[in-house]
Amino acid sequence: MHSDDVKDIVREAYGAIDSSTEAVAYKLYSPEELAGVPRSAIERALDVGNHLAFADIERGETILDLGCGGGIDSILAAQRTGPGGRVIALDFLPEMLERTAAAADEVGLDNVQTLEAEMEAIPLPEASIDHVISNGVINLSPRKRRVLAECARVLRPGGKLSVADLTVGDEELPPEILTHPATWAG
Ligand SMILES: C[S@@+](CC[C@H](N)C(=O)[O-])C[C@H]1O[C@@H](n2cnc3c(N)ncnc32)[C@H](O)[C@@H]1O
Repeated sequence: MHSDDVKDIVREAYGAIDSSTEAVAYKLYSPEELAGVPRSAIERALDVGNHLAFADIERGETILDLGCGGGIDSILAAQRTGPGGRVIALDFLPEMLERTAAAADEVGLDNVQTLEAEMEAIPLPEASIDHVISNGVINLSPRKRRVLAECARVLRPGGKLSVADLTVGDEELPPEILTHPATWAG
């Protein structure tokens, strides 16, 4: 499949999702972690793991959240980096960015900045980011090497990459599933 076709499938699939269920967030994050996250972001969580439990986020970091979705990880990261740091919440869907911005407003965070962009072409200067975080997003790209090259470009030397994601081996699923267009988004 052409990479633009994959992108269209992913855009359409995520554009159609409004809210899901609180169950995803409560399966992956502790009630203590979620205590300061607005319900709207909890209900919209589409995470695949809790990378932030392992991410060493320091106060004052500039963090880039690739594919912020409803904003749960951007909110958690913004609280941890504090007012001296900031989170750039990137997504290619404007409706996701609106949800993240609204969730940040709801809890009074002014260090979350949204950025409409594709993760394959991040419109940020090189070495401008301390920490890239991403949850369940890189697997959706038809150009994963390009995404990782972009992460390496924007990260400062010694910067950190904390990712939760899905992988699949050729032998793990039957070919008719692996080559089905909907598999990209699912
Ligand atoms: C599975 S959701 C994860 C959202 C969020 N990280 C979470 O854990 O709830 C994937 C998100 O990545 C965004 N996305 C997918 N492909 C993208 C791309 N090529 N560039 C930027 N954002 C993308 C989608 O719009 C969606 O918001």
